[in-house]
Amino acid sequence: MQILGIETSCDETGVAVVRDAVPRIRANLLHAQLADHAPYGGVVPEVAARAHLGQLDRLVRQALAVAGVGFGSLDGIAATGGPGLIGGVMVGVMLAKGLALARRLPFIAVNHLEAHALTVRLTDDVTFPYLVLLVSGGHCQLLIVEGVGCYRRLGTTLDDAAGECFDKGAKLLGLGFPGGPAIERLATHGDARRFPLPRPLKGRSGADFSFSGLKTALRERISTLGERLEHQDRADLAAALEVAIAETLADRTRHAIVQFRRRHPEGRHLILAGGVAANQRIRATVTTLAAEHGLEMRAPPVELCTDNGAMIAWAGLERLRLGLQDGLDFAPRPRWPLDPTAARARGAGVKA
Ligand code: KG4
Ligand code: ZN
Repeated sequence: MQILGIETSCDETGVAVVRDAVPRIRANLLHAQLADHAPYGGVVPEVAARAHLGQLDRLVRQALAVAGVGFGSLDGIAATGGPGLIGGVMVGVMLAKGLALARRLPFIAVNHLEAHALTVRLTDDVTFPYLVLLVSGGHCQLLIVEGVGCYRRLGTTLDDAAGECFDKGAKLLGLGFPGGPAIERLATHGDARRFPLPRPLKGRSGADFSFSGLKTALRERISTLGERLEHQDRADLAAALEVAIAETLADRTRHAIVQFRRRHPEGRHLILAGGVAANQRIRATVTTLAAEHGLEMRAPPVELCTDNGAMIAWAGLERLRLGLQDGLDFAPRPRWPLDPTAARARGAGVKA
């Protein structure tokens, strides 16, 4: 089985061809829109949608050429159907539907979060059930993955996502966007102990997250340092922020592990997924946590943690081989919770 996957939910245009034989990834092309959004200091939805439109035709042609296949050797066309910036999602979904109709192929609308949660099965032989810490720019969730389409949400963020905290922290420190990689680079020269920052919700029951207080604490620390931050001040603050985020994620995940164990004593894996999973300190912290609880930590390679087409193609493949596909009347979804039955979290800006 071989699937073309299209990702357009945020600021990366990704197109990939993935199959269920080794090597699984035949082509995985990415156009990052960093330069388009840089003047605005963040992703502008309208700019993103137009940039996806401008790149997609070329990327689809190139992906097929790199994979050395034509439409005739595809079994389906998958695109991110949500959640995400709706203009971009519409661009990807419309192209996928058009190709599926013209080539008489199945169309699969993929939930972007599901794609992050299943990526580890593209690269590693991980079987269900497993626990996922899904940390990205838009989402921060703990999920039990019991099968394709079977997700149990144990926790979500009550305000900002972990990636958002990195991005907003980077902005406060005068670094570029996206903030995560910039903070990580700077933090390597920093002393995390110089500026103590809080660990929001640490020790509280449940597995929900909160990050907005951490950002405020960072802003207050910065204001006590006066007008000009020296390089070492910025490095120490970056390290303090990175460690605070890592330890907060670990504390909340510890609670989720207990719940996972209770429900699935046979479960063996703790998976780290989403853009923030590219962070080496967070990978190390979560690896230690998993080992302490007799679980094995797995995370996709860094380039498959941040948004990409291969994860969409793979999730499409996992769905299609179970006979799951979507009609051409599928409507793109700005919000699309993976676990509609999850208890509603209460907070300032709860993410679905
Ligand atoms: O999964 P992703 O590419 O897009 C969303 O679905 O949101 O995640 C992007 C997020 C951004 O907030 C970015 O700052 C963060 O992932 N990120 C990182 C690193 N690389 C990307 N955060 C910390 N350390 C990194 N190395
Ligand atoms: Zn993502």
